[in-house]
Amino acid sequence: MHLGRKTLSKYLIENLSGTPDGADLAALLVDVAAAVKAISGMSAKGALGGATGSMETTNVQGETQKKLDVLSNTAFVNTFEMGGLVAGVASEEMDDPFPVRAPHQRGPFLAIFDPLDGSSNIDGNVSVGSIFSILRAPEGREPVMEDYLKPGTEQVAAGYALYGPATLLVITVGKGTHGFTLDREVGNFILTHPDIQIPADTSEFAINTSNERFWEPPVSRYIGECKAGKTGVRERDFNMRWIASMVAEVHRILIRGGIFLYPRDTKDPSKPGRLRLMYEANPMSMVVEQAGGMSSTGRERIMEVVPTQIHQRIAVILGSRHEVARVVQYHEEHDAGKGEPFSSPLFSERGLYRN
Ligand code: AHG
Ligand code: MN
Ligand code: MN
Repeated sequence: MHLGRKTLSKYLIENLSGTPDGADLAALLVDVAAAVKAISGMSAKGALGGATGSMETTNVQGETQKKLDVLSNTAFVNTFEMGGLVAGVASEEMDDPFPVRAPHQRGPFLAIFDPLDGSSNIDGNVSVGSIFSILRAPEGREPVMEDYLKPGTEQVAAGYALYGPATLLVITVGKGTHGFTLDREVGNFILTHPDIQIPADTSEFAINTSNERFWEPPVSRYIGECKAGKTGVRERDFNMRWIASMVAEVHRILIRGGIFLYPRDTKDPSKPGRLRLMYEANPMSMVVEQAGGMSSTGRERIMEVVPTQIHQRIAVILGSRHEVARVVQYHEEHDAGKGEPFSSPLFSERGLYRN
């Protein structure tokens, strides 16, 4: 039974009433929770609800949309439009942001979201999620593109939903990171993971190693050292995970520590990374930093990057702070022209030990 436990609404009232826009922000996060419940229900029905499979459409990034991408996007858009708390919305699945107009009421925030993260997992019945970022809207006028293109430090709230064996909503309003589990029978989110703290140290990394040949030297150096385990400079064995769902990856890191890397690589020089700044990297960085972790491109704190495009991509390295700091240090050393056994002439492409 959930009686006596703290619901999401109670947490929000306790933590936001009395702050400027606090009541509106609390109400907006209750709306986010409503959309999440709808998506949780659709994803749990799987093939029975017609939510598996692909559409014939592609999004602005050229990716084939899954049915659940589109259904989830509609769930968020409808909830935000009806809720009267946002002045505009932007999404991975929509080419451009759009303003909320009459007959709907305009509110004081902007919502930017990835309605369904980890879409390639839907048909395999592996965990997926949603990610959201909340900014302040301009006062007294419709939002324009520049209003959305704010660095992550300007976020007033951020979080994600994880549709796994249980559905969880993890949020931050800048006062720590807190996790709520959906009690399906009652329809309430209950505070089950208060004030999450990411362990500073870890022996677990997550990276898509099929891209290894495209990595930059500091990333190759770091992962090479992890793989060398006890026999290498780290003098301990590491473990690896890759779920291909950033939400599931970040959640595991929040629970038991770890480092997640989707670094810049040379696979497609027109794309500086795989993940999107506005609705993946920024909100997850706020969640991670508020939980005592660190989030960087390898060269910059992600939340300080000034965005130029709504769908722009960026390198992401986040998680346990001592490990992320090590990767950042390897980037610094590389950029200063030192510190890389892997870039030694003996091991370079035309070196002594290579064909
Ligand atoms: P989305 O499903 O919203 O497009 O995001 C998928 C992202 C992220 O969740 C995951 O970490 C990464 O893409 C997986 O990429 P690879 O398939 O290259 O491993
Ligand atoms: Mn995504
Ligand atoms: Mn997505």
